[in-house]
Amino acid sequence: MIIDTHTHLDNEKFSEDVDEVIKRAKEAGVKEFIIPAADPKDLPRAVSLSEQYDEIFFAVGVHPTEIDKYEDKILLDFITHPKCVAVGEIGLDYHWVKEESDRKKQKEFFIRQINIAKEYNKPIIIHVREATQDSYDIIKSFENIKGVFHCFNASEQLLEFSENFYYGIGGVITFKNAKKLINVFPKIPKNRVIIETDAPYLTAHPFRGQRNEPFYTTIVRDKISELWGVDKKEVENITTKNAKRLFGI
Ligand code: NI
Repeated sequence: MIIDTHTHLDNEKFSEDVDEVIKRAKEAGVKEFIIPAADPKDLPRAVSLSEQYDEIFFAVGVHPTEIDKYEDKILLDFITHPKCVAVGEIGLDYHWVKEESDRKKQKEFFIRQINIAKEYNKPIIIHVREATQDSYDIIKSFENIKGVFHCFNASEQLLEFSENFYYGIGGVITFKNAKKLINVFPKIPKNRVIIETDAPYLTAHPFRGQRNEPFYTTIVRDKISELWGVDKKEVENITTKNAKRLFGI
């Protein structure tokens, strides 16, 4: 069994056929799903999917690119919900943000959301894009936090947190230009690797460019099986155990 630990099933790209998407995944052995929060407008849909499906869990938080919409209430309204397993995705994304004041704002709300996660004893799902050093400094400044680097960016610096943090591996590892990740991948302890899609984005090769969905975690599993030199079932066992340990499911 595979857990898709990062799948935006609340995204409008799934509004037409989410039931079929889930069915297709389950038939392929993808049995549980975690919907991370991104845009606050989609959160009620994530909550409602988690109430409709035993296999679906969700996280609360505000994505760094949506940070202008931030309110504590967005997290606090659902953080005690029985299907809420984490705070995220939260973090820093400097790709479109060049102003120092905007970066400062992202940092401020990243820290604020980590504090809420700590208070409620939830792991965090971290999004880092072109902001490795600042993310590193912030995480380093906390004690007793755990979580996952979603769509791990192959930074060896972030591997320093592998005592308490996990590394989300998705379709990127199958890309032809994934050399850096392929090289770093063996350095991640096996008990810290979890599988994700980031659906509807970042679809694995050879389906790159099409809508991603949880079914395609099977391709990621196959690639990890090749890289670790262990059979597919073993990859499923290890990564599912890791995900359950991290998210308490
Ligand atoms: Ni995501």
